[in-house]
Amino acid sequence: MRSFALAATLGLCASLSAALPSKPHSPFAHKHKAVKRDGTPKAVFAHFMMGNAYPYTTQDFQDDIELAHASGIDAFAVNMGTDDWQPDHLDSFYQAAANSGTGFQLFPSFDMSVFPCGSADNAQTLVNYVNQYSGHPNQFKYDGRPLASTFSGESCSFGQGSAAQGWKSQFVDALGGNVYFVPAFFVDPSTFNQYSIDGIYNWNAGWPIQLTTSLVQSLLGSTGLKLTGLVSSAASAASNALVSQVTSIDSDTQYINGLSSVNAQGAKAYMTSVSPWFFTHYGPDTYNKNWVYYSDDQLYATRWDTIIANRDKFDLVEINTWNDYGESHYIAPVKGDQPNSQAWVDGFAHDADVGWLDMTNYYATAYKTGNYPEITEDKLYMWARPHPKDANSADGVGKPTNFEMFQDTLWAVYFATAPATVTLSTADGVTQSFNVQAGANKLSTQLTPGGYMHGTVVRNGQTIIDLKPDGYTFNPNPPSYNYNAFVAFQGANSTSS
Ligand SMILES: *[C@@H]1O[C@H](CO)[C@@H](O)[C@H](O)[C@H]1NC(C)=O
Repeated sequence: MRSFALAATLGLCASLSAALPSKPHSPFAHKHKAVKRDGTPKAVFAHFMMGNAYPYTTQDFQDDIELAHASGIDAFAVNMGTDDWQPDHLDSFYQAAANSGTGFQLFPSFDMSVFPCGSADNAQTLVNYVNQYSGHPNQFKYDGRPLASTFSGESCSFGQGSAAQGWKSQFVDALGGNVYFVPAFFVDPSTFNQYSIDGIYNWNAGWPIQLTTSLVQSLLGSTGLKLTGLVSSAASAASNALVSQVTSIDSDTQYINGLSSVNAQGAKAYMTSVSPWFFTHYGPDTYNKNWVYYSDDQLYATRWDTIIANRDKFDLVEINTWNDYGESHYIAPVKGDQPNSQAWVDGFAHDADVGWLDMTNYYATAYKTGNYPEITEDKLYMWARPHPKDANSADGVGKPTNFEMFQDTLWAVYFATAPATVTLSTADGVTQSFNVQAGANKLSTQLTPGGYMHGTVVRNGQTIIDLKPDGYTFNPNPPSYNYNAFVAFQGANSTSS
């Protein structure tokens, strides 16, 4: 993959290069806020893959904007590629933001794994994008300047002597400094001060990418357990060792330290990330990327809680992602185009009707205000992979790298308005009950091969939630490998499941 080649060229350390999530690109070639220390408001963004939006109309963009706005998201970071239809679509996107009347905002996130960047002309393309929308009322601004971000770009010299010189002279200076530049450069944080940047975006912070099968096995080994045979009595001790990795902010701290030595013209911003999941499954004949990041232990809720607990350190948060189907970390409705990911995405909605997006407003609001909002409706969210991690299939692509580190667990989050009893079942007679308090409760239980997911909530003898999604079986004989999450959701006040 190109990102690996870039990493190798730069001589990045092994862990950094291995962590580079090379992104799939559209194969459709035809086509009331809390305040930062210095007074700048915190904001929550979601990464939007324009490459997956080829069929979008202006109304489609507006529908997504309204959904995101209602979910506590302030702006989309619009991942731009090089398809010739993308400029017109970006225009429609800004128009839709204006039409929505929500005040929702956008900013470009240039995908430098696809934009050419060897010449000064290549930089002019990016400069033109920023200039075109810098005065638009729906352009996100930070410290008074239009924000621009990237995915990668750390080796883009734009015909100059170095990437640092290229970005400075051909992008930042060419814009007359009228840009707030927060790239996701995959470089050693101690070198951030070589670049002319205003902030830094830590793309990988949303996943505990340090966790590999061998590290997980050694963590579980210290609790006397092996990955297979992880049984409920000892599972919580093993899980604690893992959770301390999932809640680590070591990567954030390295980035913040690196940023502290950057000489910027105004306020500097650290932009971190949060993500619910990661699974990508492309064979050598397509994008050749077949791996997982650790996403267990209710990653989305757990990472949000970590961000909220450390919110003074985090100026901006980007959710990875709104609609990147190919890497399974979308929170939005499955819509538009898919980058040949149908095999592991179709039937696996993560959206408002089904869950992760619905959870977002609670955490985004807590991050921005410093206070978790009051829970006004009982809501149960459950998710799980559709087959045991060790199940065998013959799909020609094979098991994703690091699949061994997972647990065969049903994950749940229950938003409780008051104390209640939650019961999770994964087969007839395989049942676990939890007495919970008001607030957001993280729960889990073991999955059963051939079984299902079923959650109920009882309060004062009355069943207020009964959720057993039809479309789900924990299939021990899957037709192909799928380590995506099946997400289910029910609110006590709604009638649908
Ligand atoms: C849900 O129903 C309860 C009980 O009727 C009510 O108090 C609460 O306001 C409702 N919440 C929402 C978000 O409508």
